[in-house]
Amino acid sequence: MKLTTHIFLDLLGVGELLENITTVVKDRLGLNPRRDCRQLAGKTAIVTGGNAGVGLATADALLRSGANVVLACRSAERGQSAAKQLAASTGCVGDSGSTVLAASDVDPPAAPRVMVELLDLASLASVRQFVQRWAASGRQLDLLVCNAGIMCPPERVETADGFELQFQSNYLSHFLLANCLVKHQQSLRRQQQAQRRRRGRGGETDCGETTRPLRVIFLSSMTHFGADLATTLADVPQSRTGWHSFQSYCNSKLCTLLAAKQLDRLFVRNAQLAAHGAAGAEAPPPASTMMLQRDVAVAVHPGLVDTFLARNYFKQSVPRPLRPLSDPFFEHLFCPYLLRSPEAAAQTVLYAATAPAAEVGGQYCGTSPHVSKHSAAAGDPVLAEHLWELSAHLCQLGPSELLD
Ligand SMILES: NC(=O)c1ccc[n+]([C@@H]2O[C@H](COP(=O)([O-])OP(=O)(O)OC[C@H]3O[C@@H](n4cnc5c(N)ncnc54)[C@H](OP(=O)(O)O)[C@@H]3O)[C@@H](O)[C@H]2O)c1
Repeated sequence: MKLTTHIFLDLLGVGELLENITTVVKDRLGLNPRRDCRQLAGKTAIVTGGNAGVGLATADALLRSGANVVLACRSAERGQSAAKQLAASTGCVGDSGSTVLAASDVDPPAAPRVMVELLDLASLASVRQFVQRWAASGRQLDLLVCNAGIMCPPERVETADGFELQFQSNYLSHFLLANCLVKHQQSLRRQQQAQRRRRGRGGETDCGETTRPLRVIFLSSMTHFGADLATTLADVPQSRTGWHSFQSYCNSKLCTLLAAKQLDRLFVRNAQLAAHGAAGAEAPPPASTMMLQRDVAVAVHPGLVDTFLARNYFKQSVPRPLRPLSDPFFEHLFCPYLLRSPEAAAQTVLYAATAPAAEVGGQYCGTSPHVSKHSAAAGDPVLAEHLWELSAHLCQLGPSELLD
C-alpha cells in the first residue's frame, strides 16, 4: 500500500475517533433519541452474528420491541449461550432445540421468541444451507440485519471458497444471503397473492396492505471512506496482490454499502412496476402507498463501538513489545469511555429498521442516528451494478436465482 494511502487511513481513523467522542457524549447525556419500535411487535428478524457485540444488543432491542429474533451464528454453543442470556434479560421465549427452523415453528407464540440457527459466513455452502432451511420453514421474514463481521486479521486468510476472509465474511456471503432470502420472500408473496385470488379476494399487489414489507440492513462503517475499489475491483475477490488488512476491511465495508444501495434500487424499481401493474399500464403510478410500504435496503455505520472487534483492533495496532502496557489502557480506559456502548449503537440499527422508507431507503445511516453523507464511490450506481453482477458471478448464482 502506498504511503499516501497509509497517511489517509490514519487520518481517517483520527477523524472517526473525534466524531465518535461527540456521539458518546451525546449518548451519555441522553441526547440521541431512542426509537419507539412498537411497529416491530410480532415481526420476525434474522440477525447475523447476533451472539455478540452490536448484533447481540440489536437482538436484545428487537426482542424488547416484541419481535421474534433468529440469531444466525457460526457457533451453536455461543448462539445458545446468547439466546439464554437474552431470554433471561428480556423475558422472551428461548429455544431449546436445534431444529429451530422446523415447519412446526410457523405459528408465532404469544411472547417474542429467540432462536439460534447455524450460519458460517466464511462458507457459501453454509449460507445456501441456511437459506434452504429458512425456505422449508415457511416463515415470513420482516427484517434481515447483515451484521456479522471481522476486522483486520493479522495475516491474509483465504476461505475454502477461495476468497479473502474479510471480503467473504463481511460482504460476499451477506450478498448471497440477502439475494436468496429476498428472492424467496418474493416467491412466497406471489404464492400468497395467487391463493388470495383463488379465494376471490384478489386485487392486492406486492406492496398492498396484506403483504409485509421486508427491510434489509447492512452494517457498513465510516472506514468505507478509505476503500480503494476503483483500482482494485478486478482483484477484489482474492485481494492477493499488495494485501493490507485494514485496506481490505475498508473495501469490504464499501462493498456492503454499495450492495445496500443496489438492493434498494431494485426494490424501488419493483415497487414502481407493482404500482404500474396496480394502476393499469395506461395510468401513471399512484403516488404511493406502494412506495411508502415498499421493501427497503439501508446501510448503517454504528459508530466506534466497545466490542470484541474494536478492542482487538486497537490492541493489535500497538507494536507487540509494548502491549503489556497498552492493553490495560485500551481495556479499562479507552474502550469503555471513548467508544459507544453496543446498546447505544443498536439504536442506529433500530432507526434504520423503523424510519419511513422515504427517509432511509438506500441511505447510509450514521450515529446520532440520522442519514449521513457517504463517499462519492458509494453513490456510484455503475460501480454498484458492476459489483452486484460480479458478486452474482462469484457466488455462481444461476439466472433464476438472481434478484431482478
Ligand atoms: N465495533 C465497531 O466499532 C464497529 C464500527 C463500524 C462497523 N462495525 C460493524 O459492526 C458489525 C458488528 O461488529 P461488532 O463490533 O459487534 O463485532 P463483534 O463483537 O466482534 O461481533 C461480531 C459478530 O460476527 C460474528 N462472525 C464473525 N465471523 C463470522 C462468520 N464467519 N460467520 C458467522 N458469524 C461471524 C461473530 O461470531 P463469533 O462470536 O462466533 O466470533 C460475532 O457474533 C460488523 O459488521 C462490524 O464491521 C463495528
